[in-house]
Order: sequence, then C-alpha cells, then structure tokens
Amino acid sequence: DRIRVAILGATGAVGTELIELLEKRNFPLTELKLLASSRSAGRTLLFKGKELSVEAVSENAFGDVDLVLASAGGSTSKAWASKIVEAGAVMVDNSSAFRLDPNVPLIVPEINPDAAANHQGIIANPNCTTILMGVAVYPLHQIQPIKRILVSTYQSASGAGARAMEEVKVQSQAILNGQSPTPEIFPYPLAFNLFPHNSPLNDRGYCEEEMKMVNETRKIFGAPDLRVSATCVRVPILRAHSEAINLEFEEPFAVDRAREILAQAPGVRLVENWQENHFPMPMEATGEDDVLVGRIRQDISHPCGLELWLSGDQIRKGAALNAVQIAELLVQKKLLNPVETASISA
Ligand code: A2P
Repeated sequence: DRIRVAILGATGAVGTELIELLEKRNFPLTELKLLASSRSAGRTLLFKGKELSVEAVSENAFGDVDLVLASAGGSTSKAWASKIVEAGAVMVDNSSAFRLDPNVPLIVPEINPDAAANHQGIIANPNCTTILMGVAVYPLHQIQPIKRILVSTYQSASGAGARAMEEVKVQSQAILNGQSPTPEIFPYPLAFNLFPHNSPLNDRGYCEEEMKMVNETRKIFGAPDLRVSATCVRVPILRAHSEAINLEFEEPFAVDRAREILAQAPGVRLVENWQENHFPMPMEATGEDDVLVGRIRQDISHPCGLELWLSGDQIRKGAALNAVQIAELLVQKKLLNPVETASISA
C-alpha cells in the first residue's frame, strides 16, 4: 500500500519536528513531499539521510498525495483544505481553522481515537495546552467525571513559531548586553518578562487561547457542559509548556488513587520526588514524548478538589507528535484509503 505524505509548513517549528518524527517512528510512508511558502522554495531539509527540496505550495501540489500534515497557520489551512480533500487526500490540520467544525473530528489518540472513523477528509489536531491538559486529566475523568477545571498556563515561545523562539534568544542576549530590545513577533519583550497570552480578547475578558482550552476540551472529552476556566500566560521558555490544574469532582478523589491511575495512563509520566522537591519542569519535558505530571495533592480549600502540575513539550505532544499519532491511527484503522474517501464524498 502506498502512503504518500506531504507536510504543509515543512520549514516551521512544528513542520521540522514532523519530519523528524516521521523518520524516528518509521512511519510507513512511500513518498514525502515538503511544502511551504514561496520564500522557502528550493531550500533542502534532511529526511532519512536524504536531502529533500522544499516546494512552494500550489494548485497541483496535492494530486499525488494521500495524507497532508498541515502546520502553516489557519489562513493557509483554510486556503488549501478543499483542494486537499478534492484531491482525495486526508488532511491532519494543526491549525485552529476547523477544530470546532462539527464535521471535523478533534482528536487526542489517548482520549478519543474512535472519533477518527467519522472524518470527511479533515481531522483537527487540538491546541497545544489543551492536548497536554487532556492527556493528564482524562484518565481521572474516566474514573469519576470532572465537574470543573481551573487551569493556569505557563506557555513557551514555540507556540508562536520558530521566529518567536529566535526572538526570545536574541532579546535575552540584548538585555544581558545592557540594551533594551524592540519586540517584533510578540507585542512585548518576553525575555526576563511574562505577559497574559496575546491572542484576541472576547467581551467577557477571555483570550482566544483560553477559550480554546474551554471549547476544545469539551469537544474532545464529549462533555459539552464541562466547566473550564483558564488563564493563559506566556513565559520566557523556549519550547515546553507548563500548567497548574485544579480539578473539582462530585465526590472526594483519593490522591493515592489518582497517582495510581496516572502512573499507568498512556502518554503520562509521573515526576514526583517529594523529598527532593523535584517535579515536572519544562527543561526536563523538552524533547520528551510524555506529559510530565506531578505535585498531585488534595485541594485544601475543597473536599472534592485535586491539584496537579504538568510540563509537556509543546512542539512534540502539543503539536507534531499528536499529529503523527493521528496519522498512525488512520493507517491502523484503514481510514486513509483515498478511494473510499472519494466514494463517500461522491
Ligand atoms: P516559510 O518558512 O516558507 O515561511 P512557524 O509556525 O514556525 O512560524 O512556521 C510556519 C510554517 O508555515 C512555515 O513552514 C512557513 O513557511 C509556512 N507558511 C506560512 N505562510 C504560508 C503560506 N502562505 N503558504 C504556505 N506555507 C506558509
């Protein structure tokens, strides 16, 4: 069986990680096409020791492709989605463009793999902080439904792309040299600073990133009434996000039981050394597949509350790894057959 893969946004922070993961996980592809903007046409990137040229995305880029992993921003995904589906390919989209579309499954393979079966050519990869939180709290939700989630995030620069990561490094150096840097990608200096997430605010005072955590978690969990409130903050970290999470249940949830469940949960690694005060840190989560979870404790302000803390690689499980796992799911469940897709839409 041929599986011809294209990466749209191959030169970006997530795109380059997608290339590495397809290689590392030995994804069963027969061809790999690298697509980006015309700015990158002709650049070469390495895959399995071979130099592949990046092509500018164009009308006929998808004719000979079965699977597109897209990570080039929402407007690029919107611009090319129908071309991709019409060409008979399946699109796994990392942007927010289609996540809440009722015809588009929104998938974290550890949580709702069965939703993939209903795809109509597009599957959405959730927001990064939403994925990390979901992997850590869904195993508890399965044992006892969560009533309410309060979450605060500590988000790295990588969520804003490769250039944002570079900006933090350059700013740090400038500040150490006694200069005051002019921010370009972010609205304010992020080096030696932090600020509430700079996505657009709604009329209730929540930013888009915070509302993604609310709406996407509800969709992925299949829990439309789940109460979630988030405060999202950017911190001067390069590529792993952290989150402080408070969970409220109907009845008390024993801490030991929660720890036991999370110790066995797929995609989770417990990092809890209470003697050494060693818990998840973005530096130790960087480059790891698992979400690191720790500081699981009873909420002293509420008998039915649990507190926990996590760090997870935003580019890995928060983006590229989750997308590749969705692609692997499509292969396993034989949901990537272009002929079938074509006959459904016909
Ligand atoms: P390019 O490098 O040619 O600009 P990041 O998230 O790290 O900022 O990366 C964004 C990715 O999306 C890059 O690969 C970028 O390509 C790609 N991209 C941005 N705009 C477009 C566009 N209009 N068409 C195709 N690819 C795009």
